[in-house]
Amino acid sequence: MDSIIVKGNGPLNGQIPIAGAKNACLTLMPATLLSDEPLTLTNAPRLSDIKTMSALLQSLGCEVSQLQGGQVLVMSSHDLNNHVADYDIVRKMRASILVLGPMLARDGHAVVSLPGGCAIGARPVDLHLKVLEAMGAELELKEGYVHAKAPGGLKGGTFEFPVVSVGATENALMAATLAKGATVLKNAAREPEIVDLAVCLRRMGAQIEGDGTDTITIQGVDRLGGATHPVVTDRIELGTYMLAPAICGGEVECLGGRIDLLGAFCEKLDAAGIEVAETDKGLKVARRNGRVSAVDVTTEPFPGFPTDLQAQMMALMCTAQGTSVLEEKIFENRFMHAPELMRMGAEIDVQGGTATVTGVERLKGAPVMATDLRASVSLILAGLAAEGETIVNRVYHLDRGYERVEEKLGNVGAHIERVSGQ
Ligand code: EPZ
Repeated sequence: MDSIIVKGNGPLNGQIPIAGAKNACLTLMPATLLSDEPLTLTNAPRLSDIKTMSALLQSLGCEVSQLQGGQVLVMSSHDLNNHVADYDIVRKMRASILVLGPMLARDGHAVVSLPGGCAIGARPVDLHLKVLEAMGAELELKEGYVHAKAPGGLKGGTFEFPVVSVGATENALMAATLAKGATVLKNAAREPEIVDLAVCLRRMGAQIEGDGTDTITIQGVDRLGGATHPVVTDRIELGTYMLAPAICGGEVECLGGRIDLLGAFCEKLDAAGIEVAETDKGLKVARRNGRVSAVDVTTEPFPGFPTDLQAQMMALMCTAQGTSVLEEKIFENRFMHAPELMRMGAEIDVQGGTATVTGVERLKGAPVMATDLRASVSLILAGLAAEGETIVNRVYHLDRGYERVEEKLGNVGAHIERVSGQ
């Protein structure tokens, strides 16, 4: 298993290119199942999760070609010949459940393994199943698999989500494009990745309104065509790299960065004393003073503060002036980075879903362990500002969501290198 070694090396200066969004790409790829014409995605990120989704689609009989080093994906489900999404692939990546809605909508049947839990929480898929049942699907759970049928095709219906769910909104949105009649999704997720999916589906011929709001209306059509669609910028990678000059000092321009993707995150940066300036290439970020100020954070669905930036923000707050309270309201176990940050001298008190962080002048480098995707990058951010050397182990977590971290941070002056494991 590879490790990454980081040495505190002072301020960072320069430009960091931001890639296409992992969480947009992982829902755009299954959309190819809705049509037997090719779907081409440009600006695709080069990540292990994208490879996993490609393997899943290929296991169903889809063609997936990766061009330009993986930045362009050309997919076709014309020869779809298998409707079973196997546990072996699904267990590696929960987003695999997103093939259920499209497959069911296209051919009236699908068998998809339940994903199981993950490090940050139980993460059930009950809402994915409930909304499909509301559209007329007959579901049966057998030996860890969902057996879904819609013999006469899916029917449009109205469904109000009891809690906001990004994935369940995506599954329902894709399924509804081919259902008979109109579907209304209430308390729908509003994330930019939902909007990006709707833009792509409209390019394929879908009739969708209200994406980006909490009520999405879809008028089913008989068939969808192919399309070419650029994956939206990754707002989580963007927010992560915006925190690098915040924790180290200096000035970094995040190329392709857009304020409208960030919601409450930007407000919190401003309150912490971080200047964000829009340029014609993206977003320029720098601290206003020598040390940021502590701010309180509560994670919420978009446009609230993203749960996927909570770990990274905690790393910043570990070096802030004052005490900050971070409330994780989306997932039940998303503070696993806290004990690792404490090994670096951070002062954090975790009580259930609340972490109270008292900032210290300087963290100290130490060997630490990545436990999940966003926790791993928060340890790298902490290492960038720490005195001495930090070794982040199990970086396979990192490679799921961040391409070429060493290169991107090294290019702005970070002292960072990857060491291949045995
Ligand atoms: C998506 O996961 C993202 N993953 C996650 O990013 C992100 O943290 C999450 O949305 C929240 O923004 C992808 O897009 C691939 P949810 P998803 O359904 O769709 C509960 C990362 O780091 N829930 O919005 O699985 C659930 O337990 C990953 O890139 C149900 O109860 O998240 C959670 O508490 C991590 N039943 C809450 O809803 C369901 O059927 C939000 O989950 C579905 C969800």
